[in-house]
Amino acid sequence: MSVRIAPSVLAADLGRLREQIEQAVAGGAEWIHVDVMDGHFVPNLTFGAPMIRALRRITDRPLDVHLMVRHPEHYIAEYADAGAAVFTFHPEATVHVQRHLAAARERGMLAGLALNPASPISLIEEVVPDLDLVLVMSVNPGYGGQSYLPHATDKIRRVRALLDRAGSRAALEVDGGITTATIAEAWGAGADTLVAGTAVFGTADPAQAVRDLARRCAVRV
Ligand code: DX5
Ligand code: ZN
Repeated sequence: MSVRIAPSVLAADLGRLREQIEQAVAGGAEWIHVDVMDGHFVPNLTFGAPMIRALRRITDRPLDVHLMVRHPEHYIAEYADAGAAVFTFHPEATVHVQRHLAAARERGMLAGLALNPASPISLIEEVVPDLDLVLVMSVNPGYGGQSYLPHATDKIRRVRALLDRAGSRAALEVDGGITTATIAEAWGAGADTLVAGTAVFGTADPAQAVRDLARRCAVRV
């Protein structure tokens, strides 16, 4: 299998959004990662459905939406209609996690859960069959441009083992501080989908940046 790179729009120059997305896709980006922040679950505030709709018009790549918001269930229908392909939220942000995962699937999206650096893996254990994706945060969410927390690597390994044990085919995504210096470590631990914001859009050549990241991940069978 080969690595899936998901550039994060958070680091893009929004004045040149179409050009930036086209460049990332030209380099081989498979998904486009969209960070939704509400100023409550995380201190920062970003975008919502209008951004998803705008991206839907720009690219046919799947839109990988990462909700760092309280009560993510309020957005399931709206984001599905806006064109989200993946709907990932944090289990601590709501109560009836299983119901919301099922609702995301019913709306035709892949359902994902994200684990903060301090969040135990047990938060996903009871809902593995309901998951299409697990997102391991390798920084505390809220901002781009932070450094990869080394503890994430062992957590990726443990999530990989949990998914394999359960016979789950869920994607294992890693988000935060992914660069050409850190991506091989996350990939080697069992991640298959790597989010990268600064490492892609913080460069003069996003297409080349995506290629450089993918090249660091040796083929894994
Ligand atoms: C952090 C976001 C990330 C962010 C990653 O809260 O979830 O997706 O965009 O940015 P970099 O790759 O710059 O760490
Ligand atoms: Zn994210």
